[in-house]
Amino acid sequence: MADPRSTTPHLERYYSKRAAEYEQIYDKPERQRELEWLRRRIPELLAGRTVLEVACGTGYWTQFIARKARMVHACDINESVLEIAADKPIPRDRVHFFKADAVSLEGVPAGCDAAFAGFWWSHVKKSGIEQFVANLAQRLQPGARVLILDNQFAEGSSTPISRRDPEGNSYQMRHLASGEQFEVLKNFPSSAELAEAVRSVAREAHLESLTYYWLLVFTLK
Ligand SMILES: C[S@@+](CC[C@H](N)C(=O)[O-])C[C@H]1O[C@@H](n2cnc3c(N)ncnc32)[C@H](O)[C@@H]1O
Repeated sequence: MADPRSTTPHLERYYSKRAAEYEQIYDKPERQRELEWLRRRIPELLAGRTVLEVACGTGYWTQFIARKARMVHACDINESVLEIAADKPIPRDRVHFFKADAVSLEGVPAGCDAAFAGFWWSHVKKSGIEQFVANLAQRLQPGARVLILDNQFAEGSSTPISRRDPEGNSYQMRHLASGEQFEVLKNFPSSAELAEAVRSVAREAHLESLTYYWLLVFTLK
């Protein structure tokens, strides 16, 4: 029987074990110019807002967003990444880290007028995206601004795709420093798929496509 969850069962465990080595992904030399641009662009778009950050991981983006936002409520399912995030030098009156599931979003605070999700969308099954978008929209104020950041597939820089399932989801084989290997769901949606995914909740949407990343910015109805 098909797994009804929106992500693969071991995704949480993979990122829990990867916590200490996770931020090495931001060291890839060929991606530095785009990362520099995103580190400016994302906080600018969230300036003055109360932001819900979904699947915040080690707080890499939280630290930049918190410099401009009014407040960041940042959640993740894994304690191991939240501990690293909490150690970052972010003023405590600007950030609230807590544990929550990114799909159900149960327990997230009300009243956020913005959201950010970095490298989460690609880990949600195609069949689970509609539910994720609906839950997210329901937790935010009308008119909220939503930013979704994720990867383009870049030959020679991205981990190769190891297989596709019948639904069209793609997978990669990932290796940890310990030698442990995981098959991880990682989708690379087209611009048409992204536009369709937010059509029912967004009054306008804009996609910024770079070589290594894409940034979808939309405003809720
Ligand atoms: C690719 S990392 C992104 C981390 C961070 N947003 C960033 O951009 O650096 C994916 C994150 O999703 C988290 N995660 C996995 N399953 C989750 C779930 N069901 N609910 C919430 N977070 C989850 C992992 O712990 C991990 O921190």
